Amino acid sequence: MKPLILVIDDEEAIRLFLESTLEDEGYEVRTAASGADGLQEAFSRVPDLVLLDLMLPDMSGLQVLGSLKEKLPHLCVIMLTAHREADTAVKAMKLEAFDYATKPIQLKDLLSVVQKGLEATSEARDRFRRLTQSDLFGGIDDVVPSQSPAMIEVYDTVRRISAGGATTVLIDGESGVGKDVVANLIHRSSPRRDFPFLDINCAALPEHLLESELFGHEKGAFTDAATQKLGLLELANGGTLFLDEIGEMALTVQVKLLRVLEKMVFRRVGGLQDIGVDVRIVAATNRNLASQVRAGTFREDLYYRLDVVRLTVPPLRARLEDIVPLAEFFLGKFSGRFKKNFKRIDESGVAQLIGYRWPGNIRELRNVIERAVLLQEGLSLTSAHLRLGSDGAAADAVDLPVTLSDVLTGSLPEDGVDLEVLVAQFEEALVRKAYQAANGNQSLAARLLRLNRDKLRYRLRQYGIRP
Ligand SMILES: Nc1ncnc2c1ncn2[C@@H]1O[C@H](COP(=O)(O)OP(=O)(O)OP(=O)(O)O)[C@@H](O)[C@H]1O
Ligand SMILES: [Mg+2]
Repeated sequence: MKPLILVIDDEEAIRLFLESTLEDEGYEVRTAASGADGLQEAFSRVPDLVLLDLMLPDMSGLQVLGSLKEKLPHLCVIMLTAHREADTAVKAMKLEAFDYATKPIQLKDLLSVVQKGLEATSEARDRFRRLTQSDLFGGIDDVVPSQSPAMIEVYDTVRRISAGGATTVLIDGESGVGKDVVANLIHRSSPRRDFPFLDINCAALPEHLLESELFGHEKGAFTDAATQKLGLLELANGGTLFLDEIGEMALTVQVKLLRVLEKMVFRRVGGLQDIGVDVRIVAATNRNLASQVRAGTFREDLYYRLDVVRLTVPPLRARLEDIVPLAEFFLGKFSGRFKKNFKRIDESGVAQLIGYRWPGNIRELRNVIERAVLLQEGLSLTSAHLRLGSDGAAADAVDLPVTLSDVLTGSLPEDGVDLEVLVAQFEEALVRKAYQAANGNQSLAARLLRLNRDKLRYRLRQYGIRP
């Protein structure tokens, strides 16, 4: 596949010049005339390299660089500038721009910088490929390896501790980011994989039940204890015990857990004898344990015992490059399960998935795809199937029967309408009309709609309109 280069520059002459020269060099080129368009373009299809003008009409090149790097930290961005201003250069380098090219553009210099940038990009990809093919994901087919640098660091740590006996691990991150998945990965990548992986949600049980679940109890330890019962610590011996929502654990249970972590011994409830175990404790929380310590609801000594190795799983909105691979994975999975034909996600769908904030992270993505596959039919999943609000709220599951002409000819339905869906329908209809009227000539269609060609092309892709 040809490397994809995105040119963001407000000067048409420069865009055209770069587009044709870079295409001649065998690259695929897309262009954008403003910062906002450039960001939209980059996020709807991640390029291999960006050439970014420092002076743009709507925002500064540095702002664009900042937004690009926030969501795509490893993206290679080369700044185009008329002057090598020391001040801006320093700022850009702090934001990790790859390099500079000065205007007027010296073609030879530019091409060599571009080539270096693309080499750096492909090296980073190779590193990722080696990583995902390594033992960590061997034999694991229900987890999509993340491509985000922060997650790759998490995987690196998981690999480093995999051999390391019973090192305790603390996983934090927002709800739905995949903490359970990481805990499982820790277990499956270690020699402990032949022993049990057991988990318990500390928020789900009242104090005394949690205690007897964890440590077991002797016969007659309390009224209901008719027989002896082994706790999870004993049952998980040799393996891994995953304590989910550790922040919810009662202080009395925390004391006993501390003893396990310090000495690897514990007593069953009602028992007098110390029992030794070899269990790796992995704990997870979506709360801030440090502030719980300050508030007195979490023991400081336990906190330090748990926080030996900390893995922070970043939210999905900070792992933009993972959204589409995960969505495709869920699409395949649920298409199979519900006997549907969905094979791919079209560009309108991709744009919507990438633009959404995902407050519920991967769990929400999974649910959105599951719901769409279950309720809809087709080969390509489109934005109309997904129906995500751009404000970060998922639209409800039922298809709105209301169309634009319904609303314009009748009165507003009692339960209201979905403005964004209707506006999108309207826009799509007009773009299709103009494109047909122009016989597929993009410049002409753009003129008919008073749009520039870049904006038109973006919409053609968004609505899946093809020559
Ligand atoms: N890399 C991945 N590949 C495939 N599925 C994933 C991946 N990461 C997470 N998931 C799925 O996303 C959902 C949420 O993940 P998980 O339960 O691990 O999140 P969590 O961080 O533990 O959430 P909570 O804080 O609510 O317990 C699960 O259905 C899980 O299978
Ligand atoms: Mg969880």
